[in-house]
Amino acid sequence: MAYLALYRAWRPQKFKEVVGQEQTVTAFKNAIAEGRMAHAYLFSGPRGTGKTSVAKILAKALNCLNVSEGEPCNECSSCLDINRGNFMDVVEIDAASNRGIDEIRELREKVRIMPAQGNKKVYIIDEVHMLTTEAFNALLKTIEEPPESVIFILATTELQKIPATIVSRCQTYQFRRITMAEITARLEQVAAANNIEISPEAVAIIARRSNGGLRDALSILDQIYSYKGTAVQKEDVLEVLGLVDEIFMAELMDALLSHDSAQVINLLNIALDQGKESQQIARESISYLRDLLLYSLLGDKAELMAANQSHKDVLDKQKGKTNQRKLLLALRKVMDTADRLRFSEGNRFQLEIAFLEISEILSDNNIEPKPIAKAAVVGDSGIKKDKAKKKDVREDLWKQILNKVKEKRIPTHALLFQGNLLGIKENTMFIGYKKGYKFHKERMEEQANREILETVIKEILEKDMKIQFIFLEDEQYNDIVVKKAIEIFGEEVIEIKED
Ligand SMILES: Nc1ncnc2c1ncn2[C@@H]1O[C@H](COP(=O)(O)OP(=O)(O)OP(=O)(O)O)[C@@H](O)[C@H]1O
Ligand SMILES: [Mg+2]
Ligand SMILES: [Zn+2]
Repeated sequence: MAYLALYRAWRPQKFKEVVGQEQTVTAFKNAIAEGRMAHAYLFSGPRGTGKTSVAKILAKALNCLNVSEGEPCNECSSCLDINRGNFMDVVEIDAASNRGIDEIRELREKVRIMPAQGNKKVYIIDEVHMLTTEAFNALLKTIEEPPESVIFILATTELQKIPATIVSRCQTYQFRRITMAEITARLEQVAAANNIEISPEAVAIIARRSNGGLRDALSILDQIYSYKGTAVQKEDVLEVLGLVDEIFMAELMDALLSHDSAQVINLLNIALDQGKESQQIARESISYLRDLLLYSLLGDKAELMAANQSHKDVLDKQKGKTNQRKLLLALRKVMDTADRLRFSEGNRFQLEIAFLEISEILSDNNIEPKPIAKAAVVGDSGIKKDKAKKKDVREDLWKQILNKVKEKRIPTHALLFQGNLLGIKENTMFIGYKKGYKFHKERMEEQANREILETVIKEILEKDMKIQFIFLEDEQYNDIVVKKAIEIFGEEVIEIKED
């Protein structure tokens, strides 16, 4: 059976074909239609969510001879050449391949030469976080004073690795994970167009496994198709993806929950001997624990990533053996471990120790079953008295910020007032808005308002802080809640004031 490379065949060629990312796409269509473009853009977000695709559509729209309502035609000579990769003025640089030194140097020399073929020279620099410091500096000089006819599009999966000097000179767009529903719809569309008959259950497993990345979803479909042909059932998917993984994780979790240390070590050894990397095991455990936690919080409303919906009975049993607080502590532990395993060799030992500790956490009867993360995930106001202190810290800070902003500019205060301080992680402060406050959030994101807020925060905290505004209902928010915004306001988690 031939390999289709579905993800290539299904690269969106127009803005309207892009799945999700509505805000980004709309912003660009308008900017092109109105002819107001920035000189440098920075796209960040998880893999396979459309960064390179949107960059290319943008490059086409800027050079298309028949652009209409901000969309490229895909028929004129410019569009066709760009699609074929033959257009002189659209240059793609892969920073990952050689860390970009020569290319950035060359770019500095060539960037002042006028476009040869089209309107705008567009440089797309992919995986930009891989550039060396030297290459970053060279790039910085170039984007500091770019010639009129040049536009830079930088793309990265790791925003935090991009120097602030670069970020501040770019208009930034964050690509979000594609939702389960969107992935499901796309998979069904692609399958139908290729005469692949696939059961809804099979689609659901692929969608869940791809973790918000559409490229991964299409690659999985591809693999299954090339292996199994045009009739795809749930069993085929599990066979190709490895049902083993799910059983393995479920068993590992059982062993952890029943504090069976020998079995924990035994299972880890089996997995390692089968060639699994320590870090992979840690990461899969994160997904599983996260699923178990969300399932125990939200029941059937939880969108599960790793665990199979049809194994809910397993999850039901497992959640009965633990509580949310333990799960959260275990989750933190395994996240730390996964982070640490990235940097260490010979890490079998670290992995074993970590899992033994997790087993301790899960079976520690001194850990009270407080419903901690519920407020965070479902947004009700379950703040406990014993957290009053941390809550105070946050509320005090938030009040101070609001007051100072008010002193500086009352309209900005009015916008900010509808948001809420969620937490601080490293150098980023997270401020949440409810969905109904889209207007307020977007206005706050504008430079003038953002700058006032940044100044105020700097005055109060005496350090530079990035600010990220998020919608409380978004999945990005769940990620942040479970993983990120933990730092200064809560040991275990995250108390969210949501009234
Ligand atoms: N938002 C999207 N809409 C439609 N298709 C998408 C989208 N995101 C990803 N895809 C599919 O995945 C493929 C890869 O997408 P793309 O190269 O744009 O991802 P990326 O965000 O640049 O990923 P990476 O960070 O790995 O470079 C596309 O060819 C397309 O098939
Ligand atoms: Mg890309
Ligand atoms: Zn065109």
